[in-house]
Formats: sequence, C-alpha cells, structure tokens
Amino acid sequence: MPFPIYVIGSSNTDMVIKTERLPVPGETIMGGSFMMNAGGKGTNQAVAAARLGGHVTFVGCVGDDSFGHATIEQLTKEGIQTEFVQVDIQQPSGVALINVDANGENSIVVAPGANASLLPDRLEEFFNQLQRPAIVLVQLEIPIITVEYIIQQCAVKSIPVILNPAPARPIRDDLLPYLYAITPNESEAELLTGIPVNDTNSAVKAAQILHRKGVSKVIITRGKNGAYWSDGKSTGKVPSPIVHAVDTTAAGDCFNGAVAVALSESFSLPEAVAFACKAASLSVTRMGAQPSLPTRKELAQFKSVHHHE
Ligand code: RIB
Repeated sequence: MPFPIYVIGSSNTDMVIKTERLPVPGETIMGGSFMMNAGGKGTNQAVAAARLGGHVTFVGCVGDDSFGHATIEQLTKEGIQTEFVQVDIQQPSGVALINVDANGENSIVVAPGANASLLPDRLEEFFNQLQRPAIVLVQLEIPIITVEYIIQQCAVKSIPVILNPAPARPIRDDLLPYLYAITPNESEAELLTGIPVNDTNSAVKAAQILHRKGVSKVIITRGKNGAYWSDGKSTGKVPSPIVHAVDTTAAGDCFNGAVAVALSESFSLPEAVAFACKAASLSVTRMGAQPSLPTRKELAQFKSVHHHE
C-alpha cells in the first residue's frame, strides 16, 4: 500500500493573461487572452499528486468567499481529503496575478490572503491525528513560522518531510537536518547556499553545501535541463524530455507532487526524479496551473525524447 501524502500549503485562484511578452513597469500590453483557474503551490502539488495516483490530504486555509468554496469543491472532485482545510472568515482567499509570455515564461504576484492565516495553532488538531506511515510535502507560500512548526512536529513523529523551498525565502539552517528531502530550483538553491546554480557543476556544489547543512536528500530542478539529485552517497542527473513549452506555471509543483507519489510508492530516488521530470515536462505543454497537471494515464502514454545538457 502506498503511504498517504499530506500536502500542507497555500491555495490561490490564478488570474492569467497570456501575451507575446511580459510588460515592463508602466507599460500596457494589449491583445492578451485571459483565463482564471485553480492555483497556489500547495493545492497544485496536492492535485498533481492525486492525479498521479497518490492518496492525498490537503491542509490549508481559505477565505469564506466564492474562491475559497470553489477550492474545497475542486479538491474534493480530485479525490483529495479536505477535512483539515480551515476557513478564515476575516481574510479573502489567496489570489495570484500571472502573466505568461510566448515562450511560456511567467511573472507572478500573489496576494496570500487567508494563506497567511495558516499559523501553527491551526495545525494542532491535524498533528494530534497524524500517524505514520505518511509523507508530508510543504512549500514556502505559508508563514515561515508554520513551516518551522511542521518540520518540528514531523521530526517528533519520525514522519518524512519534503520541503519545496518555493517561492525563494530564507529558512533556518538548524531545521535542515530534519528534512527527508529538499527540492529547490536553481534560484532557490542559490538563495539557500549562496552560490549561483546554473549548470551541473554548480548544482553538485550546491547539493554538497546542503548535505553539509544536514539535508539527507537533495533534488535541484533545472527546468528544461532536467534535475540533479544526490543522497550524499550516490548522485545523478536526469534529463528533461524535449517539449514545446506553452506555460511553465506549476511545473515545479507538478514535479514535487510527482516526487511525493513516487516516494509514497517506494520508488528509489533516481526513479522518483525521472518520474517527476516526465510529469513536469508534460505539464508545461499546457496552459494554467491545475489544468496543466497530468494524470498517471497521460504520463504513461507520454512518449518522450530527451535533452542532453
Ligand atoms: O507555482 C505556481 C503557483 O504559484 C501559481 O499557481 C500561483 O498561484 C502561485 O502560487
């Protein structure tokens, strides 16, 4: 039986406009197309994991408004457990304004709203009930104090935590030894280690620094250049399948949801990274955050050709 996966994090409604290029400050660009869809790093990762076959519970906080109600309804439709989703009647649900250019690159502004209300006291009941075996997946779109609390509580219960340190924010070094795995992208890896990460050599160095700080497994995602992984003894790099990128939003979320599913099914680390690279590549071929996330069946049918750095 695969382990249950608990994704603790944010949910947003994404307002997305696709245009040729991203605007510069003060500029208006006409002629874009608009879509509104479910997003937020926490729920994106939960939905990615559920579509790929994980047994998923989402833990987060929404506002008492139409976006918040729609979020809970959507998660339920995806087969995700929502009994630990809280409603803050004083805050609006999270919203993200996203611009996507012709190459699929984006810029995102987030108004966290109720996501910022997910403080440790809202998780006490959840941790009272949480039991092994389980995997916890968490990101940095909720208060840092809550992320620290989650890592500490999971350490007490010997439950593995995967930290996706996105969006890039500093975290306390003394918490790193309690992580099962960390999954930064290149810029997040730079923030955590102080060295620019832009090729395999620098990814190797960054992973070594993170191991020295006590992290057991490091996975550095490198977009179309794939991912580098290290467990301190073995290391490897996995290429990304070549795809036509339409929208890279939530590619990292798809990767993390996929890693959680693979580990919940006891895949080895390199197998988990390969599974996640394939899922994330497929997600960038489609617009939107949650609309782009593939199912296990779609992944099985995805025939891929690989990049070599
Ligand atoms: O990682 C992508 C997500 O970041 C978007 O869905 C947006 O909501 C922001 O949280």
